[in-house]
Amino acid sequence: MFGIGKPVTGDDFIDRKKHLPMFKIHIDQQQSIMIKAPRRFGKTSLVKHLLEEKKKYNFLYIDIRRFSNLTTLSEEILNQAYGFSGVDNFIQASKKSVFSLLKTLKSVSLEDIGELTLEIQEQQTDEIEYFLHALDVVEKIALKKGIIVQFVLDEFQDILKVTSKNILEKCRSVMQHHKNVTYVFLGSIESIMTKIFENKSSPFFHFAQIIDLPPLDIEELFEYTQKVFQEQSIEINNLKFFLEFLKGHPDYSMQYLKNVYVNSIIEKIKKLSDQFLFDNLLATIDSNKAYIDELIAKAKTKKHHMDQLIAIANETLLDIDSRTSYIIKGSLEEMGLIKKVATGKYIISDIFLQLALQKEQLKLEQIRGNA
Ligand SMILES: Nc1ncnc2c1ncn2[C@@H]1O[C@H](COP(=O)(O)OP(=O)(O)O)[C@@H](O)[C@H]1O
Ligand SMILES: [Mg+2]
Repeated sequence: MFGIGKPVTGDDFIDRKKHLPMFKIHIDQQQSIMIKAPRRFGKTSLVKHLLEEKKKYNFLYIDIRRFSNLTTLSEEILNQAYGFSGVDNFIQASKKSVFSLLKTLKSVSLEDIGELTLEIQEQQTDEIEYFLHALDVVEKIALKKGIIVQFVLDEFQDILKVTSKNILEKCRSVMQHHKNVTYVFLGSIESIMTKIFENKSSPFFHFAQIIDLPPLDIEELFEYTQKVFQEQSIEINNLKFFLEFLKGHPDYSMQYLKNVYVNSIIEKIKKLSDQFLFDNLLATIDSNKAYIDELIAKAKTKKHHMDQLIAIANETLLDIDSRTSYIIKGSLEEMGLIKKVATGKYIISDIFLQLALQKEQLKLEQIRGNA
C-alpha cells in the first residue's frame, strides 16, 4: 500500500506511467540505459518492479555500495552469473571442493568457463582483471544459455570508491563487446553520473540511453491515495495540498501517507482536518531528522560548505570570491546535496534539508539581530 523503508515493487509500486513503459522499451530492445536521480527517488524500485514483475527477464542485480572492494564485488557477480545455470554459490563451492564443483559445472556444460574462473582465482590476478573476467562470465553464460541478461549496477558512481579511476575505460572496453547483456546503470550522485556518461571525453560517452527520473506525478499519486483511503471511507480532499508541499518526493510522500493512513485508522477519523494533516507532516519531518542532521554534519566538516548551503536554500548571496564559490558548489554537487537547475542556478536536492537550512538562516538572523 504505502511501502516504506525499502525499494517497492508489485502492488506497492505507484505511478511512473510514463517512465515504466519507456524503460521497458529500451530494455526490450536491448538498449543499455542509465538512470540518474537523487537518493530515494525510486530508481531501484522502478528497475526491480519491471524486472521482477515480468517473470520473463533474467536479471542480475548488484548494489555497488554494499561492497568495500572490487574482489568481493566480482565474487557476487560470479555467484549470480553461475547461479543462472543452477550452480549455486560458486565462490563458496570453489573454496570447499574444486572437484565436486567441476562435476556440477560439467553437468550444466559450463566446465570450460568455470575452469577459467578457477584458474584466474588460483593465479590471484589483480582485482581489475578479476572484475573484468566476472563481467565476461555473465556474457558467456548468457550466450551459452541463449538468453539475454539485464545486468543492473546500482549506485554505479561508487565503483570509483572501490577501485582506481581507470576502471571505467576498462569496463567500457569489455562491456561494449557483450551481445547478450543489457546494462542498467543507476546512480544517485547526478554530477558524477553525468561526468561518466555524458562528457565527450568519458569512456561511457554514448554507451547508454540516459533517463532522468523526476519526482512522482502528484495527480497520479493523489489518485492512488484516494483509492486507498476510499476503501476505509476516509475523505481526503485537503490532503493534496500536503502532497504538493512534498513535491512528489517518493520516499517522503510514502512515509507521510503511511503516517496519515495509520493514524486516521487508529484515531477513527473519517474526515482529515488540516491540523491532523499538518501534525502528521511535522511527525514525518521529525522522523527524518537524524538523516538530515547527518547531511548537515558532513557539510560542516568542509570549509564554507554549510554557509554556501544556507545561502542556496535562502537565495541569498555568500560573501566569497566567485572561484571559491564555484569549487564549493562543485563539491556540494558531488556530495549530492545540491542540484544544478540552470547555468549558475542551484537548488537544495532534499526538501527536508531545505527546510532545515531555512531554519538555520532564521537562527543566524536572530543571532545577528541580538548582537
Ligand atoms: N513508484 C513508487 N511507488 C511507491 N513508492 C515509491 C515509488 N518509488 C519510490 N517509492 C518510495 O521511495 C522509497 C525509496 O525508493 P528507492 O527505489 O529505494 O529509491 P532510490 O533507489 O532512488 O534510492 C521507497 O522505499 C518507497 O517508499
Ligand atoms: Mg536505490
